[in-house]
Amino acid sequence: MSRFPILTPEEAAAMVNHDETIGFSGFTPAGAAKVIPTALAARAEAEHEAGRPFKVGVITGASTGPSLDGALAKADAIKFRTPYQSDKDLRNSINAGKTHFFDMHLSLLPQYVRYGFLGQVDWAIVEAADVSVDGKVLLTTSVGAAPTFLSQAKKVLIEVNARHPKELLGFHDIYEPDSPPYRRPIPICNAEDRIGTQRVWVDSKKIMGIVQSNRPDEVKDFSPVTDVTTKIGQNVAEFLAGELKVGRIPKQFLPIQSGVGNVANAVLGAMGEHPEIPRFQMYSEVIQDAVIDLVKSDRCSFVSGVSLTVTDQVLQSIYDNLDYFRRRLMLRPQEIANNPEIVRRIGIISVNTALEADIFGNINSTHVLGQKMMNGIGGSGDFTRNAYISIFTCPSTAKDGKISAIVPMCSHMDHSEHSVQVLVTEHGIADLRGKDPRERATTIIENCVDPSYRDLMWTYFKLTENGHTPQTFRSAFAFHEAFLESGDMRNTRF
Ligand code: COA
Repeated sequence: MSRFPILTPEEAAAMVNHDETIGFSGFTPAGAAKVIPTALAARAEAEHEAGRPFKVGVITGASTGPSLDGALAKADAIKFRTPYQSDKDLRNSINAGKTHFFDMHLSLLPQYVRYGFLGQVDWAIVEAADVSVDGKVLLTTSVGAAPTFLSQAKKVLIEVNARHPKELLGFHDIYEPDSPPYRRPIPICNAEDRIGTQRVWVDSKKIMGIVQSNRPDEVKDFSPVTDVTTKIGQNVAEFLAGELKVGRIPKQFLPIQSGVGNVANAVLGAMGEHPEIPRFQMYSEVIQDAVIDLVKSDRCSFVSGVSLTVTDQVLQSIYDNLDYFRRRLMLRPQEIANNPEIVRRIGIISVNTALEADIFGNINSTHVLGQKMMNGIGGSGDFTRNAYISIFTCPSTAKDGKISAIVPMCSHMDHSEHSVQVLVTEHGIADLRGKDPRERATTIIENCVDPSYRDLMWTYFKLTENGHTPQTFRSAFAFHEAFLESGDMRNTRF
């Protein structure tokens, strides 16, 4: 394999200096660098004990796993972090104000790096299944922003992970758009269009060394589906089947994008089971376990995504049937998978999960009670703003009913009423298309709000007759205040 120096993780970590910026591979824990960041965390701890500062800027494709975000956050080694995360320790550090976190649309990250908006990237640290002697890198279970880190960083370290077979060749489609004013249309008109190379071509002079690894992706198991998530999934499937029936979705159907998390997994399961939804394609971001089930059962004929975020057992079943999946599955850079130009062109139906929605159709995907960062906006904005139909789902309540996920006014805004077309909870569907704010509020309260909050919501809605959007500043956050004061939004008083 190698004309490049073989290093231990510790030797690789020793090359990185305090205050440098690193672009790590990884889009979710899939394909994330693991052994070098763990060694870097140990180095940071040793430096801190010796009284020396050691922090690095951490850029990735999206979230990663405990060996990267978790280890570096615990070691207090992160100077700044972007674009997305979902690690408990890192989240705590961000919400304690210790780590600067820049939450951004995932499609924009690679061009931000190329344009220099995030400063110089000193290192690309990337997991690979193989590296050729002339520096062509075969990525593993995600593409994310790794091609951009590899092209833009001054120096490169590679973790070659023996768990991933070299026969992964053919799963990736690597393409980086030129920067304006030279950018051309991205020539994708169908989910399965191949436009790039199978490996990332790297200037081999930049490769400082290779570290060998055998560590699995750290993808967590999904929570089992519940009555609530099953019902949400069925409502989404029912809505789409209805749209198909009246001809607002063409009979051959349109590509689906599905968000992250437990609700998204349940929605896909329900779509696969619905008898009136035809075999469909996905042009999505994170490929979760439920998608692989749909591909195996041939309900999904092709899936294009950024990462194979599947549990170990499911990954093994893919590796046991590489020829079958190579014809049906493609991994792309995030700026191509999430690209607004392509999302609009191919007519994607987007289904993402809200943390909180308001009665006018605005969505908060990120901030608990307006203050605490959960994960980040991820790709939800890339898809929602440009979708053929944009759908948001959420359970109508959280924390055993003490929180209504639907409130008078979102405590943080990620997606505005202008981009959100349909809201779905376990209680029903609010189709917001073509409706003014009063009509939206009426349909959301009637169809989506939990019965235990409906009267309170009607009371709020009737507090004022003024304006196009009947908001009342004094009471808009009364639900949130009641929760902060009493631990239960049902105690709201206006
Ligand atoms: N207020 C406070 N907490 C809330 C809440 C609300 N309105 N709604 C949900 N929660 C809590 C839940 O109780 C749960 O808490 P726990 O972890 O302590 O049990 C947690 O939020 C997650 O909720 P869950 O229902 O398990 O959600 P999920 O796994 O389906 O994830 C998001 C939901 C919103 C966190 C997740 O989809 C996300 O990060 N989205 C933003 C990025 C995105 O959309 N990416 C996809 C683009 S392709």
